[in-house]
Amino acid sequence: MHKLSTIKAVIHTVLGVMMSLNAFAQKIPVNYDESKMPSFTLPDPLVLPNGKPIKSKDVWEKAGRPAVLKLFAENVYGVNPFSGAVKIVSEVKTVNENALNGKAISKQITLRFPEISPTLTLDILLYLPKNVKQAPVFVSLNFTGNHTATHEKDVFVTEKWVNSGFDKTFVNNRATDASRGIAERRWPMEAIIARGYAVATAYYGDLEADHNEGWKTGLRSVLTPEQREKWSAIGVWAWSMSRMVDYLIKNESLIDGQKVIALGHSRIGKATLWAAAEDPRFAMVISNDSGEGGAALSRRWIGETVEHLNTQFPHWFCANYKKYNKAVAELPVDSHALLGLMAPRPLYVASATEDIWADPKGEFLGAVEAEKVYQLYKKTGLGTNTMPMPNSPVGKTIGYHIREGKHDILLYDWQQYMNFADKHFEIK
Ligand code: GCU
Repeated sequence: MHKLSTIKAVIHTVLGVMMSLNAFAQKIPVNYDESKMPSFTLPDPLVLPNGKPIKSKDVWEKAGRPAVLKLFAENVYGVNPFSGAVKIVSEVKTVNENALNGKAISKQITLRFPEISPTLTLDILLYLPKNVKQAPVFVSLNFTGNHTATHEKDVFVTEKWVNSGFDKTFVNNRATDASRGIAERRWPMEAIIARGYAVATAYYGDLEADHNEGWKTGLRSVLTPEQREKWSAIGVWAWSMSRMVDYLIKNESLIDGQKVIALGHSRIGKATLWAAAEDPRFAMVISNDSGEGGAALSRRWIGETVEHLNTQFPHWFCANYKKYNKAVAELPVDSHALLGLMAPRPLYVASATEDIWADPKGEFLGAVEAEKVYQLYKKTGLGTNTMPMPNSPVGKTIGYHIREGKHDILLYDWQQYMNFADKHFEIK
């Protein structure tokens, strides 16, 4: 018996390693040379399924937008099987009136979904500025557990599955006390609080662990196989962001429910764009280095491709997305249409100079092309089609910058997002 389980564990590990090496083993070509990129035509989001052009925001809202949203659900991010309101039971586990050296109130809140599953939990860490009556709030998932966003000792260490490859303090896919604060550079809480913004974060793996079998212990475990395949891990992460909003606007009087900002980095940036596409309560949207499957145009053959994504991370997108591995030209949508779904809300797209895998130019062009949807609302999007120099933000209702440096989210990025939010929320 003992031997058998050891053999099983070894097979499991070997299979796991093989999966993650799959993309490389299959030698899917990677291109960084613009001159080698075949030309392409983008699908036009302002054309109705019957071929008629969309010329007004009314037609866009009644027919065009729902059609584009459906195309994304059915072909890319998956169909959310939970329509309508979700029953949430919340429990405030800690309140610290003197967090961040007395500058903030922190709270830890656990959300449960008793009508869906008796065991699933989503743990929110909330920081509220003390001197603001109703603060705008960034809703943003983290990669490594709430306790890694801060050194504050009262923050619970996540007990969920974590990716051991993300940090050396993770042992056997569990976080340890030593991982407190490892992601602090990504969460400049004091600087955010000082500008009057609140932050609500939760571990992205709470409702689906980020591996091919993560669904087995997550939200998708309660679904039929068909529903599960039609949805996706990214869909689940987006869903968790909306549940955070459910809680915040209903229960937190120190938060301004009209000023909820969806923010996410990288794979969480992809989930964030989808969350905001599905959920209009996000009044502003920020994509940080979201790359392929996020803000970057998929039809550009630069850096990561749809095939890379589906090979290395087969659980991220819906089963249908795999149809486009070698046929990206047949994808009925592209990132500009996703970004267009944010209109007329303020949208910010950011890249980093060294993040060539995410195709910064493709992210910028996605934002450029989204402008035509904003024009239906008489709004200027980026207002330029020239990519700016590093660390030089541009734009109007759509903002963009390319930060010098690596694939990451840093204080510089947050500062631009707060400047952008101050401007659009008219915060003096
Ligand atoms: C990988 C993946 C990207 C993703 C990134 C991240 O690099 O290929 O698509 O955005 O991980 O989430 O950090």
